[in-house]
Amino acid sequence: ESNQFCEAGSGRGDYECGVASSSLRKILIKGGTVVNAHHQEVADVYVEDGIIVAVKPNIRVGDDDVTVIDATGKFVMPGGVDPHTHLAMDFMGTRTIDDFFSGQAAALAGGTTMHIDFVIPVNGSLSAGYEAYVEKAKLSCMDYGFHMAVTKWDEIVAREMEIMVKEKGINSFKFFLAYKGALMISDELLLDGLKKCKSLGALAMVHAENGDAVFEGQKRMIELGITGPEGHALSRPPLLEGEGTARAIRLAGFVNTPLYIVHVMSIDAMEEIARARKAGQRVVGEPVVSGLVLDDSGLWDPDFVTAAKFVMSPPIRASGHGKALQAALSAGVLQLVGTDHCVFNSTQKAMGIDDFRKIPNGVNGIEERMHLVWDTLVESGQISVTDYVRLTSTECARIFNMYPRKGAILVGSDADIIILNPNSSFEISASSHHSRLDTNVFEGRRGKGKVEVTIAGGRIVWENDKLKVVPGSGKYIERPPYNYLFDGIDKAEGNYLNSLRAPVKRYKATT
Ligand code: URP
Ligand code: ZN
Ligand code: ZN
Ligand code: ZN
Repeated sequence: ESNQFCEAGSGRGDYECGVASSSLRKILIKGGTVVNAHHQEVADVYVEDGIIVAVKPNIRVGDDDVTVIDATGKFVMPGGVDPHTHLAMDFMGTRTIDDFFSGQAAALAGGTTMHIDFVIPVNGSLSAGYEAYVEKAKLSCMDYGFHMAVTKWDEIVAREMEIMVKEKGINSFKFFLAYKGALMISDELLLDGLKKCKSLGALAMVHAENGDAVFEGQKRMIELGITGPEGHALSRPPLLEGEGTARAIRLAGFVNTPLYIVHVMSIDAMEEIARARKAGQRVVGEPVVSGLVLDDSGLWDPDFVTAAKFVMSPPIRASGHGKALQAALSAGVLQLVGTDHCVFNSTQKAMGIDDFRKIPNGVNGIEERMHLVWDTLVESGQISVTDYVRLTSTECARIFNMYPRKGAILVGSDADIIILNPNSSFEISASSHHSRLDTNVFEGRRGKGKVEVTIAGGRIVWENDKLKVVPGSGKYIERPPYNYLFDGIDKAEGNYLNSLRAPVKRYKATT
């Protein structure tokens, strides 16, 4: 392990690096309210060698080399787990500006202690993509996992999927129904992929928009002379997201495999998920923080740089959608919150100054998610503190099969812990955030509730508004297949494949 460490106060990219003084410390967090997804109570938490070794009231430790943190009046919670990020991703002719160091450092400053990033295949090759991401992730200062995109189909890809699941700890694959001519796949490939996921116990994930119709919508905008960022939203309306979501859900139902819809941005998509869940189908929906708290008005800003920073896909929707997605989270229709952190600087966004189709798609969120979800949902009374832990950490850990190592303050869990002060406040600005991004879609937002301490892998990495991270200290978390969504799935009544197993029913009516 590296013994280098890097320090930063508030402000982009201002790191001072030196040599770390010691190895992992013993940490005792005293008097806070310890919150898990199911339960909260006032207790102390004791950490040794990066692992939680005790959770109970009034822990006394004889050792005098223990760092004691007073958490009285504050919440002690599992660090955030972000299910959806793109660090150091090559996309739309450029590369995201946050790599595995800067993106993770930003995450830690905002109370997120683990993320799952999407490996993008190289010319369709999963193993080449995997190797490339292993290299990129060597800079890691917090734990991470990988999902993998599937962008073409043949025998080799099918075999590689199996290798990823059985040997590389990847249990989730993303299929893009949009980005025609680039990442987009056909329904035929989606079906092949869903069947393979089913056979491996891997979770299928979809980017659900009708890519052919989006392509058509984009052409129409350009013909109408609408070349600015507002054309992005106009060219791919909610109904195309609803269509993609419905299609993916029905095909997953046909194959009888669980499905995870990434970046749910619209009422249209959310209602498809609600309908399927009500009918008993195992579908999970992930809204992202930008979609929950922003609306599309920024895309009409006359200043190109301001408008372009909001361009992501599916688009940030008209006001009303975000509120409905918040309600769906509190009602249990949607299960967890991601970010889709995928950031490009103003100069990169300017690639599309004459044509919105060339604006690299993506917004920030990895540093802001924990604060904005707290302020928007807990402060407003829409969800409980235990729900907050479930939506930001525990459910992600369960779905991607790393619970209770992640997502819990339990004896034996990794010491990924945050201390949030509900009486303190936060303010978001590109001038004080820790990402390398030169803008911030949440610029100027303030709210209540502040992550005052982040502990990652047993290290205090964020305290007194100062970051102290160790490049190379982040661990790759292998995730086995067959998460809880697969339990008993083949016994479920009413699915298409099960109905075929009893062909005798077809003749019943005629006798
Ligand atoms: O605009 C977005 N969402 N960029 C990242 C790639 C994706 O579709 O997740
Ligand atoms: Zn308890
Ligand atoms: Zn996507
Ligand atoms: Zn994404």
